[in-house]
Amino acid sequence: MAKSKTRCIGLLTAGGDCPGLNAAIRAIAKVAIHEYRMEVLGIYDGFRGLVENRTVVLDEAAVSGILTRGGTILGASRDKPHSMRVGGKLRDMSESAARTVREHRMDCLVCLGGGGTAKNAYRLRQRCGIEVMTLPKTIDNDVFGTDQSFGFDTAVGIATDAIDRLHTTATSHHRMIVCELMGHRAGWLALQSGVAGGADVILLPEIPYDLQRIAEYLLERRRHGKRFSIIAAAEGAKSVREARELQKAKKAGGKKADGEGEDGPGDAAEAITEFEAVDAIRADLPLKVRKMHEEIMAYHAVQEPMATRLARHLQELTGVEARVTSLGHVQRGGGPSPFDRALCTLLGAKAADLLAEGTYNVMVAYRNGRCVPVPLKDVVGKRRPIPLDHPLLDCARKLGTCFGD
Ligand code: F6P
Repeated sequence: MAKSKTRCIGLLTAGGDCPGLNAAIRAIAKVAIHEYRMEVLGIYDGFRGLVENRTVVLDEAAVSGILTRGGTILGASRDKPHSMRVGGKLRDMSESAARTVREHRMDCLVCLGGGGTAKNAYRLRQRCGIEVMTLPKTIDNDVFGTDQSFGFDTAVGIATDAIDRLHTTATSHHRMIVCELMGHRAGWLALQSGVAGGADVILLPEIPYDLQRIAEYLLERRRHGKRFSIIAAAEGAKSVREARELQKAKKAGGKKADGEGEDGPGDAAEAITEFEAVDAIRADLPLKVRKMHEEIMAYHAVQEPMATRLARHLQELTGVEARVTSLGHVQRGGGPSPFDRALCTLLGAKAADLLAEGTYNVMVAYRNGRCVPVPLKDVVGKRRPIPLDHPLLDCARKLGTCFGD
């Protein structure tokens, strides 16, 4: 039994779920309990459960048999303590969140989540003085400061398998199939699975596309006897024209909704997406108008997803029959891949070691094959888009993949 400066921790999973959350919960709790005799409390439904003081003791039995299970045994939510809907109104519930931490004498609040979760945890640290720690999870792989987030590898596997399957049917019917992939504002999932699945066209938020150019590329393939095509499109991909208009809208919309910039690294970080521009505009609207706006956006999203629009335009431009597959939440479902299980175990065990030595207010990152603490102040508010000189982009181009630019 090793000595520990930390006696009790709270554990929550926030933001969208992903495979590997249970594996990480298990690793943190097992090492914390076995090695350091810490008390481990689970908090239900992310920051919502923290505010509402809904906790559960995580003993060995509670975290046993969950390594391979998808989702999160604790439940998740996208609620933010500083702006939470309570009784129909958005309220700052940071103090209620901190009260739960103090009431249970948690020495540190460990939050498993993406960039937004790190931001929310760090806000609690700054506003209420509680100690926090985060672990990077997301299928988007866009958390700044870590080489990889857990959940990503599993999602790449699912998406690649889907692209493989689309290949066989596209070939039989001599069609083009647009496969829409998640990833929010980053193209990691589309790039990695697109390259792994041999997609002919890969569209990413980091590289605005020109429809005409894609159409020419597809027709050229036909001329060379390739009668099918697979287009892997990230949900955040946008055309050159959209990118320009959104850039303008962003400027007109002023600051972001939460008043914080997204100062990601490199040129690609400057590229904005539809989501960002809409966020920026929405920030300046009165609540009532904002709600109406959200409803309209949701209606259009349901009516014509980005991939459907893309397929329609490309079919018109090329005369080639097009189909659409949107993988959606399938990409986040099911159990974690072997790599993610191992990554979660490494990150979780390291988190427990760091807690024992009293290292707080850090994200446990995966860098160069090792788990290391990175101060939260250095990562929050930053994004991790694909750098435009990424080797995978370069080699895919050399192989003839079209990125629409
Ligand atoms: O951040 C993970 C993610 O799956 C994104 O890729 C996607 O844009 C979003 O979450 C979907 O969110 P929700 O599950 O709330 O619909």
